Amino acid sequence: MSTPWTAPRIRAAKGQQRLAMLTAYDATTARLMDEAGLPMILVGDSLGMTALGYANTLPVTLEQILHHTAAVVRGVKSAMVITDLPFLTYQVSLERALESAGRCLKEAGAAAVKIEGGAFRAPVVGALVENGIPVLGHIGLLPQSVHAMGGFRVQGRTAEDAARLIEDARALDEAGVFALVLEGMPAEVAKQITAAVTMPTIGIGAGPHCDGQVLVINDLLGLTEKPPKFAKAYVDVRAAMRTAIAGYKAEVEGGQFPGPEHCY
Ligand code: KIV
Repeated sequence: MSTPWTAPRIRAAKGQQRLAMLTAYDATTARLMDEAGLPMILVGDSLGMTALGYANTLPVTLEQILHHTAAVVRGVKSAMVITDLPFLTYQVSLERALESAGRCLKEAGAAAVKIEGGAFRAPVVGALVENGIPVLGHIGLLPQSVHAMGGFRVQGRTAEDAARLIEDARALDEAGVFALVLEGMPAEVAKQITAAVTMPTIGIGAGPHCDGQVLVINDLLGLTEKPPKFAKAYVDVRAAMRTAIAGYKAEVEGGQFPGPEHCY
């Protein structure tokens, strides 16, 4: 088994190694990622859209993310598993945030949690970190604020917004996040943030200058019907699944499956 990835090891990788992260929601996929040597696997609340059929991440519950985190944890040996805290599980109070994050580590076996938000979230980050819970920050396009943003919109386009994002990143750095997701922002803004902070930045729709990248596994596999501009499909699993399902149906209907080789 290769050396397990931990929050301090991820933090120390800045400037040493570019970090590839993917989302996963089940043990089989997580095992393949672990075997490929991925340092970090995020059990994203994108779960709501990729697996549960919701229009956005807001309906995802703590129980659902715990269930999927536990499955992912069972699939890995070395990768660090990070749980995305769902909407309203960390915003209400520090106590609630500690309890929600603590359950991710205690019940599901996660090694860290991710929370969305900038400088105003620093007290929550501080409380979690002080209590031994590593935190992955997340700024820029915040899917849990989809209604406030008026849709999934790129952030930091004006000089004022870009400056605010840089301040957010610095505040989270001081509060103790071990890494920071930068989502949906101009590449130049992500470059400036990456230069301004001491922890690795992990980009998604934030250009090539981040210390690492994260993609939703469904986008990478070509499973998403209308993928975002920033995503790259490395394979067309959607087409492969269609072919396989249609082939199976035709063979069952035509009596070719099961063949003699499938019989006891
Ligand atoms: O929920 C998720 O998958 C995420 C990543 C896109 C960063 O937050």
